[in-house]
Amino acid sequence: MEKVKIEKGSVQETLVIPLYGRKLCAEVFPNLYTDETAAKICSRLDYDFSELDRQSESTLWRFGALEAAMRQLDMQWEIRDYLAAHPQAAVVNMGCGLDQTGRACDNGECLIYNVDMPDIIAAREELSPAGERERNIASDLNDFSWMDEVDGSGGAVFFAAGVFHYFTEAQVRALASELARRFPGSRLVFDTIGKLGRRLMRKTFKGFGMENYDECLIVEDASALRSWVPGSDASSKGYMLGYFDMDDPNVTGLHRFLARRCDNMVKMQVNRFDFPA
Ligand SMILES: C[S@@+](CC[C@H](N)C(=O)[O-])C[C@H]1O[C@@H](n2cnc3c(N)ncnc32)[C@H](O)[C@@H]1O
Repeated sequence: MEKVKIEKGSVQETLVIPLYGRKLCAEVFPNLYTDETAAKICSRLDYDFSELDRQSESTLWRFGALEAAMRQLDMQWEIRDYLAAHPQAAVVNMGCGLDQTGRACDNGECLIYNVDMPDIIAAREELSPAGERERNIASDLNDFSWMDEVDGSGGAVFFAAGVFHYFTEAQVRALASELARRFPGSRLVFDTIGKLGRRLMRKTFKGFGMENYDECLIVEDASALRSWVPGSDASSKGYMLGYFDMDDPNVTGLHRFLARRCDNMVKMQVNRFDFPA
C-alpha cells in the first residue's frame, strides 16, 4: 500500500507528534487509553519516526504521550457530555490532523466533521475516507466559509486539540464569536497554555517554522474568556488531571508530579464555551 507523505518543517507536521503520542500511550498505558487507529495510521505515513522511536523509552517522552492522550480523553468527555443532551449534534474536529475523536464519540446519530488544511484533508481521505454521517472539509479555519458546510440544526460541539497554540488571541476570539453567532447554543472546547508554557514551547514553535510565537494565544486566567463572547458561559479544567485520575499502573510518581506542574504552573487547561441559545 502506498504511503502518505507529511512534509517536514510545516505547521501540518505538528499532527505527527500527538498522533505518535497516542500510539505510544495506547502501548504503554493500555488501562488508561486505547486507540485502535493511531498505530495503523502511523504505519501508513511516509515520515521518519526514528527519532521519536529512539526517545519512546524515556520517562519524559512517555509523559508527552500521556499529554497527547489525556487531551483527547478530555475532549471526548466534553463531546459525550454535549451529545447526551443533543444526540444529533454536529461534532466538529477543528484542525483535526489525523485524529479520530469524532468517530470515538459516535453515538450512531451525530454528524461528524473534520476540518484542516487541504493537504492534510487529502492525506486523511487517503488514510481513512469519510464514513457515514462524516464529512472532511479542506479549509483554513480562519476563512469562516467552512462553517457554511456544517449542519448545526441538532446542535453543535466544536473542538480544537493542540490547534489554537498556533493562532493569535485575535484569531481565536473572532472564531469563537462567529461560532456563537452562527450556532446559538453550541459548545466550543480547546486547550491552551499559559505564559510559561509558551516560553517552554518556543523551540518547538520555531522548529515548525513559526516566527510569530510571541503573538500566539495564551490563557493565564480562564475567567477572562467570558468577556470574549457576551452572554456565554466559559469554564476551564486542568488538562492532565482535571477530568481523569490517570489511573494506570505504568503512570509513575514522577508522571503525576509533572502532571500537577503542567496543570498549575504551565497552565495547561481545557477551556469550554457554552454559547447562549
Ligand atoms: C498539533 S496538530 C493537532 C492535530 C489534531 N488535533 C490532533 O490532536 O492530533 C495541529 C493541526 O492544526 C492544523 N491547523 C493549524 N492551523 C490551521 C488553520 N489555520 N486551519 C486549519 N487547520 C490548521 C494543522 O494542519 C494540524 O493538523
